[in-house]
Amino acid sequence: MLCVTLRRLVDYTKKIWMVLHVLIDFVRYEAGLTGAHIGCEEGICGACTIELDGKIVKSCLIFAAQADGASITTIEGLAQNGQLDAIQEAFIASYGLQCGYCTPGMIMSARALLRDNPSPSEEDIRSGMVGNLCRCTGYQNIIQSVTRAAEAIASGKER
Ligand code: FES
Ligand code: FES
Repeated sequence: MLCVTLRRLVDYTKKIWMVLHVLIDFVRYEAGLTGAHIGCEEGICGACTIELDGKIVKSCLIFAAQADGASITTIEGLAQNGQLDAIQEAFIASYGLQCGYCTPGMIMSARALLRDNPSPSEEDIRSGMVGNLCRCTGYQNIIQSVTRAAEAIASGKER
């Protein structure tokens, strides 16, 4: 009886937690996926960008409960069998990161951009990545990284 009551209490507490917390908190502190970062917590910096049912979202703006039943992909889901994907490799090769704080969000946004537009111009990349801020790189290397990733994907490298 105590056990059942306790379980109900845990379930109830969990539901309350899901309602009160945003998705980035669930991803990092409940699921243990710490790749996506918390930055501004108000939808501006893009550090928390993840995919929710295949579409990128700023996970600081969504309650965890709103994602109930949805499929989530974070930066941790991109590498396959220990092999980084084309966008991750391009960011390394083109020095698209310094401290790396913004990088998981940048890569998730780049992935969405390249899915919609596999051959983006520099202007397309600038406007496609406008929701992600970087305090280190000056952006030029990030643009080069996305261009490099587009070329790698076009040449047959899997995303
Ligand atoms: S932490 Fe979500 S957009 Fe900045
Ligand atoms: S690499 Fe440091 S914030 Fe972008």
